[in-house]
Amino acid sequence: MTLNAQKTGRKLRGKLGELPPIAVVLGSGFDEIAKKIKWEAKVPFKDLPGFPRLTVEGHRGLVIRTRLQGVGLLLLCGRSHYYEGHTMDALTFPVRVLATSGVKILLLTNAAGAIHPQLGCGDFMAIQDHINFMGENPLRGSTEGNASRFVDLTHTYDSKLLNTLVRSARAEKIKCRKGVYLAVSGPSYETPAEIRAFRRLGADAVGMSTVPEAIVAKQCGLRVAGLSFITNPAAGTKAAVISHEEVLRQARDNADKMMRLLSSFVSRLTVELQVSTSESATFQNPFSWQR
Ligand code: HPA
Repeated sequence: MTLNAQKTGRKLRGKLGELPPIAVVLGSGFDEIAKKIKWEAKVPFKDLPGFPRLTVEGHRGLVIRTRLQGVGLLLLCGRSHYYEGHTMDALTFPVRVLATSGVKILLLTNAAGAIHPQLGCGDFMAIQDHINFMGENPLRGSTEGNASRFVDLTHTYDSKLLNTLVRSARAEKIKCRKGVYLAVSGPSYETPAEIRAFRRLGADAVGMSTVPEAIVAKQCGLRVAGLSFITNPAAGTKAAVISHEEVLRQARDNADKMMRLLSSFVSRLTVELQVSTSESATFQNPFSWQR
């Protein structure tokens, strides 16, 4: 399947108008937010050619243009996963569409299991770096435009956005520490031996998403931030049984906390990084601080 990001981008802008420069992908369970949030415009994934069909409960499949603290924001409510059987190309296609449509900053959120002993259920982890344990790289075979496939991932997660995330959490009295996210393909959860091995490799949290989108976003020149919400202790670290239902429940029960953190983040972004509050992606040089 040849997916045309430019074409779908035009369709997206046709439905939503000019896109704001900040987009957020909401991970498992957090697409509940779509129900609560006041939206300015929205479009279902199914109306966007090339956007993947979602097969997992907890993923709604809507792109919403909204405003938090007066700042225009694009929310992707629902994402597709490698474990659903999508190709890496298909599941990272929405990122390419956003990149062709004026989005400059992408915050990828997810639900994750805690490996670091000081991470507990209900905490957030701002992703400092990742380990790709999915067994595939989304740029393999990719010949998207003129972009190089040999992308430097030394600074995948933008350090200014990372610090802004941590400061935003602190201001809201929400527990959030920086850490390393390790992505597995899933869909089974890990064995205790795998988690012990991941700990030794330097992982603080484990999940089944985010890394493919982060790599593609980096290739597209977006500034990337990642935020894990800890829904469970990783396998073998506590006696608890891990289930998808519990992961979703934890996320849904904490949707308000996620919204508080997001609101604080976007309002700080405008101050700390001088991102314009205009909703237009074509306003005067809002990314003058870009490296
Ligand atoms: N492992 C992998 N993915 C996850 C987990 C986990 O423990 N929790 C939420 N997503």
